[in-house]
Amino acid sequence: MMPVMNSTNSIKWTAPKIRALKGQRRFACLTAYDYTTAKIIDECGLPLILVGDSLGMAVLGYETTLPVTMEEMLHHTAAVVRGVKSSLVVADMPFLSYHVSVQEAVANAGRFIKSAGAGAVKIEGGALRADVVRTLSQNGIPVMGHIGLTPQSIRALGGYKVAGRRKVEIRQLISDAKALEKAGAFALVLECMPPDTAGKITSMLHIPTIGIGAGPRCDGQILVTHDMLGLSGNVSPKFVKKYIDLTARMKEAIGKYRTEVDCKKFPSKEHCY
Ligand code: KIV
Repeated sequence: MMPVMNSTNSIKWTAPKIRALKGQRRFACLTAYDYTTAKIIDECGLPLILVGDSLGMAVLGYETTLPVTMEEMLHHTAAVVRGVKSSLVVADMPFLSYHVSVQEAVANAGRFIKSAGAGAVKIEGGALRADVVRTLSQNGIPVMGHIGLTPQSIRALGGYKVAGRRKVEIRQLISDAKALEKAGAFALVLECMPPDTAGKITSMLHIPTIGIGAGPRCDGQILVTHDMLGLSGNVSPKFVKKYIDLTARMKEAIGKYRTEVDCKKFPSKEHCY
């Protein structure tokens, strides 16, 4: 029987435990980039928190994920790890940190585990990355794969496009997914593809798939936390569901504070020593 998630349980999620969720139950994952948010998500009982390189857009104000550096990812991963007791923290390897050579990939991935305290890393790409995934996995670094829309390839793709619509693309995605599983990936993110494609891949693998814009048939789901909390402005992809409009709520609170300071209502007696 698989562990049940709730805010009080003390299970420590690991890559093998996430892998073992395959065929057991669905699970929700989110991104986090800081201590406070990670602590809240962890306390909500989510088994996996991704320190995505979406950090670049969500927090650092970049236009894409491409400029995100190893140092930025390490800094934010360490903050997330400090906020987490139970969830598995997966660190996203940034653009060009695993592309140059397998040796460089091991050295960089090792920093996430050794100095930032992550439990696993994520890398984008299919069969082309199988050697990296295999070497990392064999050296004690659990790897989550990521196929479909891979934002680090945005320049080559020519834009953020839905993947896996044509037969040839579906075949490629299936062979990429199988190659990553064979290389030792413990889970696989499927981004932005039709539900049938994601469902097909999910049914062929023995590791869990985690969908983002990939429909309901994946084993798990992930969203960028800033998107689902309404902190990403007005432009969010079709697959995002906004669970709260935190931008509006924050503006309300900040506006109220500003008014109270302006009209000398705050601080009042009870806030004074
Ligand atoms: O960087 C990120 O947040 C991601 C998720 C969208 C899967 O890669």
